Amino acid sequence: MKRFRRLRSANIRSFVQENHLSAADLWQPFFVLEGKGKQEAIESMPGMNRFSVDLLLKEIESYVRLGGKGGVFFGLSSQKDPLATNAYNSKGPIAQAIKSIKKNFPDFLVITDVCLCAYTNHGHCGIVEGQDVHNDKTLDILAKMALCHAQAGADLVAPSDMMDFRVQHIRQALDQENFTNVGILSYAVKYASAYYGPFREAAHSGAQFGDRKTYQMDPANSREALKEARQDVEEGADMIMVKPALAYLDIINQLRRELTVPIVAYNVSGEYSMVKAASQKGWIKEEDIVLESLLSMKRAGADIIISYHSKDALKWLQK
Ligand code: PBG
Ligand code: ZN
Repeated sequence: MKRFRRLRSANIRSFVQENHLSAADLWQPFFVLEGKGKQEAIESMPGMNRFSVDLLLKEIESYVRLGGKGGVFFGLSSQKDPLATNAYNSKGPIAQAIKSIKKNFPDFLVITDVCLCAYTNHGHCGIVEGQDVHNDKTLDILAKMALCHAQAGADLVAPSDMMDFRVQHIRQALDQENFTNVGILSYAVKYASAYYGPFREAAHSGAQFGDRKTYQMDPANSREALKEARQDVEEGADMIMVKPALAYLDIINQLRRELTVPIVAYNVSGEYSMVKAASQKGWIKEEDIVLESLLSMKRAGADIIISYHSKDALKWLQK
């Protein structure tokens, strides 16, 4: 007689486990500040900090010691203007951070967020004309930003702005300057989500007027995800991201079935902060909730997960 419980006993479970989570699946986000000797706690994301480059290196050292293999880097800027001039400053914190990480930890994979919202005074992800973001005028600045990161030593650039044709534009700019080995991880499927709330405080990147709905996707749509992802693969994206993760596991699964490129899930700030808040209240067991959630993203079909929990997860996985 068939009995399913036979395979659930303690000594068999691990052998029949279909999906696994390891250090090779996880990328940790980092926020980089101007200046020296600075570490600022991010209030909306308990446990997360912004670091100036010198202290960032110490943080990466401790992350690497836990087995961490890669990170996604976000720059902050005190000088903001309508054209996001500081976004491609080769002396800015992101360029400096990439250079020193590559010098000190050459094997650490460096992925950089490419978007203008932390560098524009209006906080939108592109160049504003009238009341809206102008797609094609944004493309050159994004390409300059990607090039600046490549010149500093980034392995992958990750455009998160959601302008049309930015992947193709960035690919061309990189190839022209012989950065043919720098890859593009496209935030192809990025929903206009309330789950980004805590991040906007973290990166000082909130929009000063309106919202991001004219460029980020409608949470009601799934066919659109496939359209966006296929287009970006065609334009030259090496990997495709789905963001947020937990409320969009169906989208991750759909793309996994339809595409052959690696799929990256972004377990975003709001998902992180909700877990942190509930665990601080003692309502949930943080370790179990986090490992279960991350594993669910793998089960849905994600090859890689970007998560603010990565550092903690590495500690827990070593137990
Ligand atoms: C920049 C960017 C955002 C996130 C990643 N890159 C914010 C946004 O689009 O408003 C969100 C990440 C998170 O919430 O953890 N465009
Ligand atoms: Zn943005």
